[in-house]
Amino acid sequence: MPRKIRVMFGIVTALGACLVMYQVSLMILHHRKLYFSDDHIPVILWWTPFGNNNRVKTCGNAKCYFTHNRTFENDVRLKSILFYGSNLHIHDLPNWRSSAISWGLLHEESPRNNPILVHEEALNLFNYSSTFSRLSNVPLMLLDLPGLEELVATSYYISTKEKSALIHVENLAPILYIQSDCDTVSDRDSYVSELMKHIRIDSYGACMNNAQLDNRLKNNYLDILSDREFLLFVAKYKFTIAFENAICDDYITEKLWRPLIVGSVPIYYGSPSFKDWLPNNKSAISILDFTSPIELANFLYNLLKNNSAYEEYLSHKLNERENRITNSKLLSALERRQTGIPNDFGNYMEEFECFICKRIQKNRKLQESIVTKRQYNCSLPRDPITGEINKHNWWTEQWSIEKCGAKLLSHYITNNISINIKHFDEQKMSMYDNNEC
Ligand SMILES: *[C@@H]1O[C@H](CO)[C@@H](O)[C@H](O)[C@H]1NC(C)=O
Ligand SMILES: *[C@@H]1O[C@H](CO)[C@@H](O)[C@H](O)[C@H]1NC(C)=O
Ligand SMILES: *[C@@H]1O[C@H](CO)[C@@H](O)[C@H](O)[C@H]1NC(C)=O
Ligand SMILES: *[C@@H]1O[C@H](CO)[C@@H](O)[C@H](O)[C@H]1NC(C)=O
Ligand SMILES: *[C@@H]1O[C@H](CO)[C@@H](O)[C@H](O)[C@H]1NC(C)=O
Ligand SMILES: *[C@@H]1O[C@H](CO)[C@@H](O)[C@H](O)[C@H]1NC(C)=O
Repeated sequence: MPRKIRVMFGIVTALGACLVMYQVSLMILHHRKLYFSDDHIPVILWWTPFGNNNRVKTCGNAKCYFTHNRTFENDVRLKSILFYGSNLHIHDLPNWRSSAISWGLLHEESPRNNPILVHEEALNLFNYSSTFSRLSNVPLMLLDLPGLEELVATSYYISTKEKSALIHVENLAPILYIQSDCDTVSDRDSYVSELMKHIRIDSYGACMNNAQLDNRLKNNYLDILSDREFLLFVAKYKFTIAFENAICDDYITEKLWRPLIVGSVPIYYGSPSFKDWLPNNKSAISILDFTSPIELANFLYNLLKNNSAYEEYLSHKLNERENRITNSKLLSALERRQTGIPNDFGNYMEEFECFICKRIQKNRKLQESIVTKRQYNCSLPRDPITGEINKHNWWTEQWSIEKCGAKLLSHYITNNISINIKHFDEQKMSMYDNNEC
């Protein structure tokens, strides 16, 4: 055979062998799945498919079998049921509740994705949680912060002098806004639109659009939010508006971290206690520190005129390297991570699974634990300017309706009544109409 053909033949044979090995390993896996019959390994069921499936996992001294297979709902080895918050639906819940089987809630999203879960009665149905709150069992409040190094690095950083020049040369506004979800629980756009009357803001997203991204960024900006090119673009601005879509304790997203990473000063609205996690006590501007958008605008004008006052917000870029982060709370939270494990959602999910598994193993006589609002504390939709509860916000009504939903759900679950969704919704609306929640 000519050499070329021999090589090709070799490759094809090797591929064939791999394929056979792959099939065999699949058969073995399949086998293990069907014959899972180890009597003393607790079963943990992901009710909403997420996490590990049909797998025995070792967590320290504990071992648990994780599955998405709902036939295990009636298995005596079932010890816990886990739910992924955004995919939890009232019309699709386990048929009954046993106090011997704990329920766990993994929910990193804001209430936008499932408004019933902000209410105490709904949260009380769960025993353990992994949410953005620092008080949950596996806290996710720093999920969107890649790491310490990113905060102190200056790879995107543009000096104050250059930023000032860009305002003239490229006719940039001092403030960047880029958001395409315009109808939010936090009603952030009503604040931005008021602020805009007093100071120039370049708004590139769909909300209050007044500026265009260039073509390279335009078509897919939502996909490239952490790409170098996009970060370099954000870095040109002295300030970036970082308003969350809902106001919850510790609900902090990439909206805050991105400007901090590139060295644009965030103007923040979101978690009321967000300063607890800033690199330094003056790394971002909170709109709550100002009585009105005008007052904030005047404050920003002063920073635009005074470089040293502006740069007080950038000590995480400008200080000596070892002094760039002084917040010990942030440092110790991040230290926990320094184990070479990448900071991604999948790893937190694995940690939550192991938390549950260890709990089962440790507490044969289970000590009772119940999730409360402390682990998912969001404020009613308020007007961001006046702080008043906003009766005209569509979300306010949803909130109140879902309060009835939560009350009703708790009644159904604790009394072991199976849910007919049509009937449930009718009852919920009638409770709402009669002001019973
Ligand atoms: C679910 O588990 C049962 C055994 O408990 C098994 O018979 C069935 O095939 C499994 N279903 C799936 C989709 O894996
Ligand atoms: C709940 O009801 C189901 C039947 O719908 C029953 O099998 C189960 O034992 C009940 N559980 C409790 C805790 O009462
Ligand atoms: C902020 O940090 C500076 C220097 O580290 C310190 O002197 C000051 O007291 C701090 N202010 C607050 C409000 O913590
Ligand atoms: C500029 O800001 C610095 C630091 O806050 C302050 O000490 C100084 O007085 C300010 N300069 C002017 C001209 O306002
Ligand atoms: C889980 O919560 C329920 C109430 O929702 C409670 O009855 C049960 O005892 C709790 N179980 C554990 C293990 O804490
Ligand atoms: C929820 O947040 C509000 C406002 O920040 C606070 O007043 C309240 O005490 C918090 N509730 C709980 C249960 O943590």
